[in-house]
Amino acid sequence: MMDGKTLILGIETSCDETAASVTADGRTVLSNIIASQIDVHKVFGGVVPEIAARHHLTQINGITAEALRAASVQIEDIDAVAATMGPGLVGAVLIGLATAKGIAFAADKPLIGVHHIRGHIFAAFLEHPELEPPFLALVVSGGHTSLVDVRGYGRSDVSVPAVSAGRNEPGGSAPLGGAFRSDMEVLGRTRDDAAGEAYDKTARVLGLGYPGGPKVDALAKQGNPDAVHFKRVMLEDGTLDFSFSGLKTAVINHVHSLRQAGTEPNASDIAASFQQAVIDVLAEKTMDALKRTGRASLAVCGGVASNSALRTRLADDCARAGIRLCVPSPVYCTDNAAMIACAGYYDYKNGRRDGLGLDAYATLGL
Ligand code: KG4
Ligand code: ZN
Repeated sequence: MMDGKTLILGIETSCDETAASVTADGRTVLSNIIASQIDVHKVFGGVVPEIAARHHLTQINGITAEALRAASVQIEDIDAVAATMGPGLVGAVLIGLATAKGIAFAADKPLIGVHHIRGHIFAAFLEHPELEPPFLALVVSGGHTSLVDVRGYGRSDVSVPAVSAGRNEPGGSAPLGGAFRSDMEVLGRTRDDAAGEAYDKTARVLGLGYPGGPKVDALAKQGNPDAVHFKRVMLEDGTLDFSFSGLKTAVINHVHSLRQAGTEPNASDIAASFQQAVIDVLAEKTMDALKRTGRASLAVCGGVASNSALRTRLADDCARAGIRLCVPSPVYCTDNAAMIACAGYYDYKNGRRDGLGLDAYATLGL
């Protein structure tokens, strides 16, 4: 607590960013430190889980200390430590979670495990003080593509055993117990690949390297989105589910058949055409979900939410439909710890506490 404000230290290590942040009352970011491992994984064309975990291990203590220093606070000032508990690369998640446990134990602070995707959704609060549930969230990351109806701030009205009234004890509340009732409902999800994965694979076949999303985004600006018609997979009538594996395969087949015929594909046209197909599906389903739920606000979250064309399209569609659009700045779309501290703040306020026995999870329901 400082100046009457609740301070949360957030830690995020679920993939290839080692990140720590301090937030005040959930929504004010006092520091947001991110060490990216892009250069380490670039040579492999993607994230290598064991290498990611090892790098988190060497980075995390320095990054955490830097987050406290940049926020001009001491560990004693912190009210709780929140860390991503999953979903993610489990070895990578473990490093951040173990670090958070160590700090919670040594400094006698409550520990709060945060769902990574819930964190992405809460990122929308960081720069939009007016945003309150209920609202619709479009989550588009490397591993997830979902439409989520957000009805509250946390797992508040559930009976979570309060483990850390004093010092944390090992073996506290399990995050997956039947006692939890989520205040978020997933209205639609991808049945195969996430949008981000389709971006990364498209970038790979075009030889753009890793990470692919931002490179396809940039290249598409110079291309013709009507150059190649890729099918918009809407699935059967009435579902808000997505499917991107067909599109990914169509792009790969298109590029390979051109090369087999001795023609080098026009990378910017293919990037633009692929991107248009993704955005048409995302925007159409999102606007449909808004109509069905009657929600007046839309938050767009996750790494792909930093895509410039998606942002423009949704801004246009929302303006036409009278929907308030909240998209975080790119730094809060891709993995960061401020979003974890924000989600952790609301769990803390709602009385949620986790024990030192909290596990890391590769998969985890919202
Ligand atoms: O949320 P995130 O940082 O990590 C996960 O939780 O997965 O999302 C990473 C994904 C990657 O697939 C990356 O290529 C994609 O987000 N991405 C983008 C852009 N920036 C990142 N996709 C399209 N356009 C971008 N500008
Ligand atoms: Zn993420």
